[in-house]
Amino acid sequence: MNSPTVHRILFVCLGNICRSPTAEGVFRAQVESRGLGARFEIDSAGTGDWHLGARPDGRAQRAAARRGVDLSGLRARQIAAADLARFDHIIAMDRANHADLTRLAGAKHRHKVRLLLAPGANRDDEIPDPYYGDAAGFDRALDLIERACADLLDHLGYRDHGDHGDHRDHRDSGDHLDSGDRPR
Ligand code: 4NP
Repeated sequence: MNSPTVHRILFVCLGNICRSPTAEGVFRAQVESRGLGARFEIDSAGTGDWHLGARPDGRAQRAAARRGVDLSGLRARQIAAADLARFDHIIAMDRANHADLTRLAGAKHRHKVRLLLAPGANRDDEIPDPYYGDAAGFDRALDLIERACADLLDHLGYRDHGDHGDHRDHRDSGDHLDSGDRPR
């Protein structure tokens, strides 16, 4: 009778060719490696429209590929009004994205908007925009994104005990997760 909770997660940056597609790919890989694919809908978008239809930046693709994450199938798109209604969590990479999204979301949906690096931690870091930098900037962004995506899974109730074969009750029941599911 009770269908499991599905978490709809949208990662958002400026261009949707560097950080947010990386977050989409990394988070999807983490979710799938833990057998949680049916519990999540994962997507990404940009607040800007400069790169519509483009593949992720080659530097982002190469950095992700070195860590076993394939971004090649992703294409840039701009966030639309329907996204603000559809997704449960609208996750910004930096404060400028956060401000833009809060404004777009309005009173009805702004509670869904939060920074990727903020969940449950006393830090207010951003994912720096690597677009105008060098390859090292993409690796640095990936380090932050990988850790933050793991924190996000924790935050949603899927705590990682470091043993991916260990399916404990709190991970499998799903329906109790709503209480811990509010954006902060
Ligand atoms: P992203 O990086 O927001 O992480 O995708 C950028 C990509 C393109 C531009 C800015 C940031 N741009 O100005 O074209």
